[in-house]
Amino acid sequence: MSAVPQPRDNRTVRFLDRDFARFSVQNNLYCVPIDVDDEYRQKELNRIFRDVLQDRVVLAPNFPPPGVEEPQVLECGVGKGAWIEDLLEGYEHCEVTGVDIYFGQGGEDDEDDEDDEDDEGDEERDEEAVQEFTKKIWNLNAPFRDDRSSSRIGRERFDLVNSRLLMDGINTDRWPSYVNDLYQVLKPGGWLQMVELELKFQSDNVSASLGQDVRSNVQSHIEAVSLWPFAGALPPAQGRMTVAQYQALLLGAQTQLQDDSLRLYYDL
Ligand SMILES: C[S@@+](CC[C@H](N)C(=O)[O-])C[C@H]1O[C@@H](n2cnc3c(N)ncnc32)[C@H](O)[C@@H]1O
Repeated sequence: MSAVPQPRDNRTVRFLDRDFARFSVQNNLYCVPIDVDDEYRQKELNRIFRDVLQDRVVLAPNFPPPGVEEPQVLECGVGKGAWIEDLLEGYEHCEVTGVDIYFGQGGEDDEDDEDDEDDEGDEERDEEAVQEFTKKIWNLNAPFRDDRSSSRIGRERFDLVNSRLLMDGINTDRWPSYVNDLYQVLKPGGWLQMVELELKFQSDNVSASLGQDVRSNVQSHIEAVSLWPFAGALPPAQGRMTVAQYQALLLGAQTQLQDDSLRLYYDL
């Protein structure tokens, strides 16, 4: 067993009117808000992806595989399920398992979760979502083989594995073994699709085409990814910056983003 920490509940922490998963800030892993504001940001980003990828939710050819009536799909880092919803809209017979470190409602602690420490049943059906999928709470920095629970994700199980926007959540030295683990859970002939953004939001390159379309998303993105790392801290610790210093820095960055000559873009 590795020493990689695993989430046990969906408890949250509030800082400057934003909500974060307690597990994330305690372990310095994906310290991005999990609240409704961030849900909007992610939905908008999903819309940008769809535009750029011309509505192709599945990038693999030959999907669903011939003769497979209920393709098995693994979504790594579910977020609020935007990709799963899009997938099920086009391929309603897929059976989806979604892995994440947080499955709360986005800001409100689930009191029952506090007693869940010994509960092996960390997998549940999401009955309320528009489309149903199986939730698996797991920190993907650990290999699936470390999972001793009955809901462990086994080898050669999936026709398609999707991993998108995990750059804030997978440790730098984990990436090679992460990709290998995803490969191991694919059926022979299955597909792994991965999409990441390069976090470099500006260019003087005239071929940068998205331009103003991404401005508001970049504005909210820089706040979402910087607030906790720069200013957040669990008491009694203090953040690297005071709130006033952070807000001044953010305001400066937000003001610069109004400069049309910057040619904002996301590199996919
Ligand atoms: C930016 S969101 C992307 C959501 C979705 N994949 C999409 O593309 O719309 C990243 C998600 O991955 C989850 N996540 C980050 N690091 C993770 C990790 N190490 N293990 C499991 N989930 C992780 C976060 O909790 C968050 O829900």
